[in-house]
Order: sequence, then structure tokens, then C-alpha cells
Amino acid sequence: MRWMDTLAHEAEQRLPAPVLTYFRQGAGAGLSAAEAEAHWDALRLLPHVLRDVSVVSTRTSVLGSEVDTPVLVAPTTLQLAAHEEGEIAMLRGAAAAGSLVCVSSNAGVPFTSLADSGPWWVQAYVLRDRQLTVELLDRARQAGAKAVVLTADTPVVGQKYSAGPSVWETVPPEHLLANVDQQGVEAAQLEKAADLTPATIDWLRATLGLPVVVKGVLRADDARECVAAGASAVWVSNHGGRQLDGAIATAGALRPVADALAGTDAEIYVDGGIRKGRHALTALALGATAVFVGRPTLWALTVDGAAGVQRLLTELTAELAHAMALAGTPDIPSLTRDLVSG
Ligand code: FNR
Repeated sequence: MRWMDTLAHEAEQRLPAPVLTYFRQGAGAGLSAAEAEAHWDALRLLPHVLRDVSVVSTRTSVLGSEVDTPVLVAPTTLQLAAHEEGEIAMLRGAAAAGSLVCVSSNAGVPFTSLADSGPWWVQAYVLRDRQLTVELLDRARQAGAKAVVLTADTPVVGQKYSAGPSVWETVPPEHLLANVDQQGVEAAQLEKAADLTPATIDWLRATLGLPVVVKGVLRADDARECVAAGASAVWVSNHGGRQLDGAIATAGALRPVADALAGTDAEIYVDGGIRKGRHALTALALGATAVFVGRPTLWALTVDGAAGVQRLLTELTAELAHAMALAGTPDIPSLTRDLVSG
């Protein structure tokens, strides 16, 4: 049995019910959350034969950072509710697996505590108070974040329903937004800004001096617009089905986005329902530079802290390498579109 297949169940035994529900759930009726993995499973492969795969390498680079694996860690809130060391353990585990973490701007630990833990990017929710947003992201930059990931699919927060108490009634407030000085700050200033435009990309780039990735892109026209506005990469995502319920599965959105960006040097990432090495192989063949994994990293952090995260990413990477050997593709550049049927 794959360890990954028992992980969610093991985490269930350990997490308080409101936290477990929050980690698992999708928005609305949960349509997009429920179907993500099945769409990767539905894609069929056209493996090569008679290729030398005696050495298989999963090494690659993302925005200039060298990584041993293209399986990376998506930003998630409330990591302190999963493990007492929260994001610090997540980064250590990922670094030990040769991976990289995108840390949520809602992080529960100070960015300064991440400085020596491993390679990371910072995810940005632009708050109504732009000055607070800049201060937060600048703290991340000073602590070593190498890129800023603008989450663009959250002008308002997706509606999530739960039978019991909401997680927000149960977690201590210091588990959120540890990197905003909240003295004298009103709640409205911390709400997400609903007035973002492509100009926000250039504003972030100019203000922080970091490459900007736009997360939450599902359409070819938006992808083109983001790159024209200065984005270094777009991240195909429907936020794990937690924003617009009914949004297309990312396995279907990736190909048109890759077509739209062909001939540019923009990188493409994808997340949502990536649970197997074969899913990662399919995504890379369709044009992704790297894939990001969300919920399973929370289960791994819950069950065994940094060691759990390391094991999860190592096992996914080993599965990817195995699938690459079976597909006759010894390295990342050999993963091309023609490997995916249809
Ligand atoms: C998220 N996600 C998310 N995204 C983001 O940009 N900022 C955030 O703070 C969070 N927080 C968050 C919390 C939890 C509990 C989950 C499950 C997800 C979305 C996340 O980055 C990613 O897009 C999805 O989780 C990917 O889908 P899978 O791998 O969970 O299916």
C-alpha cells in the first residue's frame, strides 16, 4: 500500500474536526474539489520504447532556483494547526527532499524564522491596506523569499459550509497573519482587495524587485494578459476547488494555457488533485515547469512534521522517476506534449 494512500486517514485521527473539515473542504457543493484528481486520471499516455532510461533525472529549475524535483509545495493556511512548528517544519521537510515551498501570506510563524530552512517563495493576498501588504511581503523578501506569488482567484473568499463550528471560531488568532503588525489595525484593512487588475502585477514587481507569479489562472487569454503585464510565470489553479465552485479542472485548463504561452519564456505551474507521479508526468508533458501539491502536504505535516513532508515529496518524486522510465523519458526536457494522447 502507498504511504500516501493512508496519510489522509492517519491525519484524520489526529486533527480536531473543524481543522480537518477546513483542510479538506471545497467551496459551494464541492464539485471542483471532488473532481480534480479524476481529471488527471482520465488523461492517457503514449510512452516511448527503446530509449535509454538507465539514468533518470527529475532535476530542474524554477525561476532560476535549482530543485531536485518538480514536485513543489503549494501555499496553505493554518500549518500551525497541523504541526507545532508549522511552516518551519514544512520548509525543512521540503528542503530535505530537494523541493521548494510557496509560503502563504497568512503564515503563522514569522518569516524571519524561515530564513535558513530551505528555498521558498511567498504567496500574496493583496489586502485592502496596500501599505500593510507591502510591509508583509517586504519582510518575506528580507527573509529570503525568491519570488512573489499573487493569488488572483480570491477577490472574495469562496463560500465554505461546515456542519460543526467553523475553524475560525476554534483556532487562536495568532495562527494567522503572524507577519502583519496588527496593532491599531482595523479588520476591514485586512480584508482581501477585490480591485486587483493586471497593473497589480507590475506594482508588485516594481515595489518588491522580485519575479511575480500569478496563481489561479484558468484561461488562455488571462495567461497572455498576465505575461504581457510582467508576470514571470502563471500558475494554473482553481485553488483546490475552494473558490468558484464549478471552475474547470486544472487538468483540462493546462493545455490551452500552455498553447497561449508557447514562444514566451514564461514558466507555467499547475496544482489541484496531483496525487501520483503519473499525474506530475502528465502535467509536465502538457507544458508545466513544475507541479504543486496542497492537501497531502498538510496531512504529511500533521502525521510526521518535517520527516513526513520529506517522505511524501520523496515518494511522489520516486513515482515520477519510475513513470518517466516507463515512458522512455530520462529527464525533464524529454517530457513533451506528444506523450499525452488526444
Ligand atoms: C489552500 N490554498 C491556498 N492558496 C493560496 O494561494 N493561499 C492560501 O493561503 C491558501 N490556503 C489554503 C488552505 C488550505 C487548507 C487548502 C487545502 C488550500 C490553495 C492551495 O495553494 C492549492 O491551490 C490547492 O490546495 C491545490 O490543490 P490540492 O493539491 O489540495 O488538491
